[in-house]
Amino acid sequence: MKDRYESVREQLRARPETWLITGVAGFIGSNLLEALLALDQRVVGLDNFATGHERNLEEVRESVDERQWRRFRFIEGDIRNLLDCQAAMQGVDHVLHEAALGSVPRSVADPIATHETNLSGFLNVLCAARDAQVQSFTYAASSSTYGDHPGLPKVEDRIGQPLSPYAVTKYANELYASVFARAYGFNATGLRYFNVFGKRQDPDGAYAAVIPKWTAALINDEIVTINGDGETSRDFCFVDNVVQMNLLAAKADAAARGQVYNVAVGDRTTLGQLFAELKRLLAAHGIAYERDAHFGPFRAGDVRHSQADVGKAERLLGYDGKVPFAEGLARAMPWYIRFLAERAGHEPNRVDALSAMASGK
Ligand SMILES: NC(=O)c1ccc[n+]([C@@H]2O[C@H](COP(=O)([O-])OP(=O)(O)OC[C@H]3O[C@@H](n4cnc5c(N)ncnc54)[C@H](O)[C@@H]3O)[C@@H](O)[C@H]2O)c1
Repeated sequence: MKDRYESVREQLRARPETWLITGVAGFIGSNLLEALLALDQRVVGLDNFATGHERNLEEVRESVDERQWRRFRFIEGDIRNLLDCQAAMQGVDHVLHEAALGSVPRSVADPIATHETNLSGFLNVLCAARDAQVQSFTYAASSSTYGDHPGLPKVEDRIGQPLSPYAVTKYANELYASVFARAYGFNATGLRYFNVFGKRQDPDGAYAAVIPKWTAALINDEIVTINGDGETSRDFCFVDNVVQMNLLAAKADAAARGQVYNVAVGDRTTLGQLFAELKRLLAAHGIAYERDAHFGPFRAGDVRHSQADVGKAERLLGYDGKVPFAEGLARAMPWYIRFLAERAGHEPNRVDALSAMASGK
């Protein structure tokens, strides 16, 4: 039997629709763009390059054909500005709202900036979408909403108190979505992403996520610091699973819309295991990393353990065929190797090894 994801893709290929991706120049946004253009969809993208990059859009351009690329219209704009959101919404069937300032530590350092984009910006996008009467609205929620709830695996209707300003904004998004359903009959579907990883996730900057940050450190032969004792665990989720969930949510039946869903694998990997797996993966490609990890203090606002129950997404949306953690990591690695090898600053022999590996020689 054909799975639901394949049916959705077939349907879209046969009858292309118009999508708005906010945060399109970011990691997840650009992966959504690539998938939708490959399905011959029309896409409008909105981004202000706060944390996204033109290079991500360039890379998508190179991965699709010219005819598909012409179906993409980019608007450089800011979700904190209602007019930008309204302009982007014209003629749109489906909204995938990804724009936000990610990172728990960033929100602890600057809660106002996080609030302005993640909450006021969210409300702008939501109001503009409601007024434009789009067919579907899917937004990036977050596993941080589980906060201090000790239960494992995480089930959608059992949450605790938020542990960071970032978590407050993501939870408040869900509250607004639920009120918009009651007050205006406008259904917005929230996808609680667990730690997502894959190509184009930014390895740079103080707020880089753990997988790209450590991968870069290992490739560059730099010290890796584990915050805490190495036993902190996460349900690391490959970006293709996130793409699948966005398409399923956008094309879901009315009954399955307007709810929140976990987006993950349903597995758990400790930071210590992640470090060992990255080392193993690179060693298998001839990149040796001889150092041990350093251990630092636990980070404020971090959840100790995270693992999702993805049963609701499977039952109501037909989420299936998830890429497991180790496979996702192996699939993401060539991109990081290529990306990092292209940069200046490596020792010549290391660059050669990396370049050869990336080009499959
Ligand atoms: N990556 C994860 O593990 C993860 C986990 C849970 C939730 N999320 C959520 O998923 C979404 C996408 O995250 P990502 O990892 O791709 O991050 P990212 O930083 O790569 O992408 C976010 C994009 O939003 C854009 N943006 C930020 N502020 C904006 C503004 N005011 N106006 C317009 N554009 C703006 C950025 O420039 C960037 O391109 C975010 O909402 C994030 O909170 C991500």
